[in-house]
Amino acid sequence: MSQRFSASLSTVFDIHWNSFPIMIGPLILNLFDQENIHNLPRNLLDVCCGTGYLGKFFLESGFTVTGIDLSEEAIRLAKLKTKSSGSPAHWIVGDASNFNTLQKYGIATSTFDSLNYLEDVKALTNCIGCISSHLVDNGLFVCDLFTAMGMRTLNSISIDEREDSLTIIRGFYNQNDAYAFLSFSGFISNSTDSYTRFGQVLKLSVYKIEAIKNILEEHDFKDIRYYKISSKELIQIEDPESLERVVITASKDKSRNSSLSQSAKP
Ligand SMILES: C[S@@+](CC[C@H](N)C(=O)[O-])C[C@H]1O[C@@H](n2cnc3c(N)ncnc32)[C@H](O)[C@@H]1O
Repeated sequence: MSQRFSASLSTVFDIHWNSFPIMIGPLILNLFDQENIHNLPRNLLDVCCGTGYLGKFFLESGFTVTGIDLSEEAIRLAKLKTKSSGSPAHWIVGDASNFNTLQKYGIATSTFDSLNYLEDVKALTNCIGCISSHLVDNGLFVCDLFTAMGMRTLNSISIDEREDSLTIIRGFYNQNDAYAFLSFSGFISNSTDSYTRFGQVLKLSVYKIEAIKNILEEHDFKDIRYYKISSKELIQIEDPESLERVVITASKDKSRNSSLSQSAKP
């Protein structure tokens, strides 16, 4: 099952559900600047970049940016958003579990529970492998995910009613098999008197945080840390499963070799 967000869902995220990437951008940048004792290059790889809010913030903060997403509409909106943002961004339609941009980056991100939308642990493992091989030595990886605790909050129905759209979100969490379904359906305005109906069901994978830690370590990451999100900063914590949403950071271990193709530019 493809987890690409449809054009309508990408549009709804772009217009109405953008507060998360807008909020977390400065928190990630602060963390990068605090941790940047190795003088890492200011270039960002944003995996499952959506419609480019995080990338736009980093571009405007002096980074070069590459974003990858399966959704053509999300990439179109990201390009539109960053047309006049200073340095050029590279927005690529591609799969988070199988990509090679032929570049290396100082920081890689995957925000707003994007990794939960990967098919399964195998897809997550491939994605972490790709990210690892695209980071410079000591490069920082930052992602946030729903934990099993967070998935329980998805067992509900909510309605998001706006002037230009109506979205009904139904959630179902299957605790035994470690996945959840989110169904998004509704209407979005095309013009003053015309609406398009949309509907999409997405599967979310629930990973044990310990399993993610193991995958990171197997792919040359070290210094794995967990954070909770407060309005002003990321606060380091020890027990990630106690949160509904956890931010995970890890550094690329320079003592291990990466597998990015020989033709990749350093
Ligand atoms: C919840 S949105 C988050 C977007 C963005 N990271 C943000 O913070 O706003 C998840 C995004 O992941 C993308 N996605 C899902 N599976 C993907 C995959 N296998 N490869 C690349 N993108 C994927 C979807 O198209 C969608 O744009």
